[in-house]
Amino acid sequence: NPVQPPVLDKCGVATNLNTGEQLDINCCPPVTDRIIDYRLPPVFQMKVRPSAHRVSPEYIFKYNMAIDRMKRLPKDDPRSFMQQANIHCAYCNGAYDQPGQGNLDLQVHNSWLFFPFHRWYLYFYERILGKLIGDPTFALPFWNWDNPKGMTIPPMFVDPKAAIYDPKRNQANLPPAVIDLGSTGNTDPLQVVNADVFDFMGQPYREGTAVNPGPGSSERGSHTAVHVWVGDPREKSGENLGNFYSAGRDPLFYCHHGNVDRMWTLWQYFLPSNKVPEKRITDPDFLNAAFVFYDENAQLVRVTVKDCLDNLRMGYDYERIDLPWLDYRA
Ligand code: C2O
Repeated sequence: NPVQPPVLDKCGVATNLNTGEQLDINCCPPVTDRIIDYRLPPVFQMKVRPSAHRVSPEYIFKYNMAIDRMKRLPKDDPRSFMQQANIHCAYCNGAYDQPGQGNLDLQVHNSWLFFPFHRWYLYFYERILGKLIGDPTFALPFWNWDNPKGMTIPPMFVDPKAAIYDPKRNQANLPPAVIDLGSTGNTDPLQVVNADVFDFMGQPYREGTAVNPGPGSSERGSHTAVHVWVGDPREKSGENLGNFYSAGRDPLFYCHHGNVDRMWTLWQYFLPSNKVPEKRITDPDFLNAAFVFYDENAQLVRVTVKDCLDNLRMGYDYERIDLPWLDYRA
C-alpha cells in the first residue's frame, strides 16, 4: 500500500539526524480536523520560475517583500516563515510516524518520495508568497547551479539587509566561491548512473517500509552536495542548509530545490529516451502516496503523488536556459 499522510495531532518530538539527539524545538504544525482533498486549480497563466542569477531588481524587491510578509505573519499561522520551515523538520526528522505502523518513522528523503514531496512543498510555498503580495503569477527563483554562470550562491541572497538573507551559511563559500557538485560523487547534473528510473527517482517506499530505502542519483549527488556546501561550519550541526531540521529556515533552500525540481522536469522531458526507456513509475503505491500541506488560504489539504507528475498541469514552468552539460554528456 502507499504511504499514508501523517496525522497532525500525533506529531511528536523530532531528532537531529546529524547528531542523533532530540531537538529542543517543536516543529509540529497547527492541528485542524478539516482536511480537504486538493484539486489542482485550472491554469489561466503559467508561472515561470526564473534563474536566480538573472532576475531583475523589480523581481528581487517583490520576492523580498513576500518573504518579509511571511516573516510577519503570526507565529501560529501555518503560512508563516517558521511554520513553513518546520514542514521540512516534521517530515524529515522523525516527528511523524507512518499512520498505523507503530513507531515506524515517516521520512520523505532517500526514496521515490523525494521529488514529489519537495515539489508540493515548493508549490504551496510559492502560492503563499504570491497571495501575500497579491500576485498570483509570482514564481520562485531557481538556483541554476548546473550552468557555469550560476555556480555561486545567487547574489541576491547575500545582501545582509534583504529578507532572503541568512547569516548561517559557510562564509568561505559565499560568492565568488564556485560550488563543487562532485563533492558527493558524480558531477553530471542529471546524474544518470544506471539509466534506470529508480536509480534517478529513488527506491520504492511503501506503507510499512523502514526509512531510507535508498536515494536516487540526483538526490544523493548534486542535491546533497549543495546542502552540505552552504551549511555553516560555525554552527553545531551544519545549520541552516546543512541539516534537515533547519534547512527550510534559509530562503536559499527553496531556490536550491527549485533547481532540484527542474532536474526532474529535465529528466522527464529533455533526456533522450534512448538513454532511459522508461521514465515513469506506474506503481500505484507511488502514485497514491499522499502528503498534507496548508495551502495559501491556510486550509489543510491532502495531495497525492499522481497529481504532481506534470509541472505544467500544476501551473508553473522554468525559464529556458542553456544546458551546456547536455551535449557534453551525450
Ligand atoms: Cu528535503 Cu534538500 O532536502
